[in-house]
Amino acid sequence: MARVNEHYLKLKAGYLFPEIGRRVTAFCKANPDAKVIRLGIGDVTEPLPPAIIEAMHKATDEMADRSSFRGYGPEQGYDFLRNAIADNDYKARGCDVSADEIFVSDGSKCDSGNILDIFGIDNVIAVTDPVYPVYVDTNVMSGRTGAGDNAGRYGGIVYMPATAENNFTPELPTQHVDLIYLCYPNNPTGTVATKETLKKWVDFAKANDAIILYDAAYEAFITDPSIPHSIYEIEGGRDVAIEFRSFSKTAGFTGTRCAFTVIPKTLTGTTPTGERIDFHRLWNRRHCTKFNGVSYPIQRAAEAVYSEAGKPQVAAIIKFYLENARLLREGLAKVGITTYGGVNAPYVWLKTPNNATSWDFFDLLLSKANLVGTPGSGFGAAGERYFRLSAFNSRANIEEAVNRIGKLLG
Ligand code: MLT
Repeated sequence: MARVNEHYLKLKAGYLFPEIGRRVTAFCKANPDAKVIRLGIGDVTEPLPPAIIEAMHKATDEMADRSSFRGYGPEQGYDFLRNAIADNDYKARGCDVSADEIFVSDGSKCDSGNILDIFGIDNVIAVTDPVYPVYVDTNVMSGRTGAGDNAGRYGGIVYMPATAENNFTPELPTQHVDLIYLCYPNNPTGTVATKETLKKWVDFAKANDAIILYDAAYEAFITDPSIPHSIYEIEGGRDVAIEFRSFSKTAGFTGTRCAFTVIPKTLTGTTPTGERIDFHRLWNRRHCTKFNGVSYPIQRAAEAVYSEAGKPQVAAIIKFYLENARLLREGLAKVGITTYGGVNAPYVWLKTPNNATSWDFFDLLLSKANLVGTPGSGFGAAGERYFRLSAFNSRANIEEAVNRIGKLLG
């Protein structure tokens, strides 16, 4: 008899975004004339810039010609892309990351879930609260947690609250932890970590032989020059951290799919007998066994993100979304709502008006203003009475959203 992975049965309801989608679909069915504006899931709306499209077309044409056709590529990614990443994202910022420490993939969501394959089942996991739900759910699925409670917290996970009270800077854990998930600029709060904060984490990881799983999928939105883009900008970062990066939000690849994960060769963990093994070797083995690489035209498109023509085009889109975030922040402030983030990130995190629960505010916005956002409690217990709005949308929709919020709450 085939048995199910019973750990899946511990998961609370659906994954957050499909659950929102379900509620919105039901609303639209009941209100077919409502002009719903979606500021829930952070999905890009602006088309891929010309330099990227041109590179993708050219690579597609190469695939049509016997002399330039390519079959399987290297599982880890083509050298042209790994070199471009190493030079532009790391060497240019003074980070010691070499091209062969970069693994190109089809997404940071997939990588941040799949990475658990190379870690022992009994590692103690620490996450910030609120948190990107993928980190928690993949740990539940793999059997690293106990049961969940009504607030969505699972036994065995160490939760580190990040709220207005601690300026969204969680305290270092007081108990033993092995794997620490950090995401900066943060999803969902849109807040950032200073060099000093990250140094504190790196030193903690080093002192406790822990590994930081650092999600930097939103680094392109950093506008403050003092804020680090990579954990490897911090001294010692190479010895304690894996970094996830994505072209999704940086360059509009949510539908195109391309990302990468950095595993420094200096990063090691122990076997039950105390032998030290490098994680790079394990991830390389995993990647080659379970993944066949990102398609050639897409990797060429990603390479164009770093080209002379591509760089300013990509920067212009980031600027566009950040202006959307500013409009949202200012529109909310006008009706007395306290906001956080949205300066170095595409997400605006807000305190719900009248201390409403996150889902009550979701329902109010949807039913009265036909706006979709993301309830803070969906990201964790400490997100209750907060709410996230995404700046990924057209300017017209953002202006209309601000207008409707003004009418509803002004
Ligand atoms: C979000 O809205 O949090 C993101 O779109 C989720 C993701 O990148 O997977």
